[in-house]
Amino acid sequence: MRSVCIAGNWKMNMSPSEGRAFAKALVEALKDATVRVVVAPPYVTIAPVAEALSGSRITVGAQNMSDNLSGAFTGEVSAPMLKEAGASVVILGHSERRALYGETDEFINRKVRLALAQGLDVILCVGETLAERESGKLEHVLATQTAGGLKDVTSRDMSRVIIAYEPVWAIGTGKTATPEDANAAHAFIRGEIAKLYGKAVAESLIIQYGGSVKPSNVKDLMAMEHIDGALVGGASLTVEQFAPIVRYNIG
Ligand code: 13P
Repeated sequence: MRSVCIAGNWKMNMSPSEGRAFAKALVEALKDATVRVVVAPPYVTIAPVAEALSGSRITVGAQNMSDNLSGAFTGEVSAPMLKEAGASVVILGHSERRALYGETDEFINRKVRLALAQGLDVILCVGETLAERESGKLEHVLATQTAGGLKDVTSRDMSRVIIAYEPVWAIGTGKTATPEDANAAHAFIRGEIAKLYGKAVAESLIIQYGGSVKPSNVKDLMAMEHIDGALVGGASLTVEQFAPIVRYNIG
């Protein structure tokens, strides 16, 4: 049995004080949760959130990271800084970073390797646009982004990698992939991992689904064989929505 991980990507929401208060409320609401939970605040909110979550089972992630360790890189934040602030995971290759900030597979791969070398776990995001899906390029895009993002990542380090399948057309749109479509994409990604790393690594890899996950659709998604968690955007910003998503398997 693969383990399950539910992560909340707060995107550019939650100031330090808002994040701290929200994190305290989450600790209360998720006391009985049984799955791994990660929340990823904006950079400046990581430290107060990590402090509010200390002693709880909820861990903290970052939404991005520099591809360098230190130096003259104005506006950037390094892996060691994220760790010191309290992050243990970093989301890399999110489609918003690919589309809005021009991040390529090669650039994302540099960050993936650096994060792993610095002791951060990685959530690597992959996913197709609607145009790519409609023109029959789904598998090509998933294969390229998966292999490109993981180039030179060792089998051993793969135990610290999660892949998030996020179809771009389902992000923030209210349109969710059907559980069957999402499962097919996840199965394809798992097959690509098996080609690169063998069956054992592929079978134990956590693949999250992301794109308009809500309390009302999480159970059907999580019931699918290859869906091992969720990367939640909008619905991770309130206790009312995020708690039932994390507690999908409890009552
Ligand atoms: P939404 O859940 O708001 O669609 O966002 C998904 C996402 O991009 C998470 O990384």
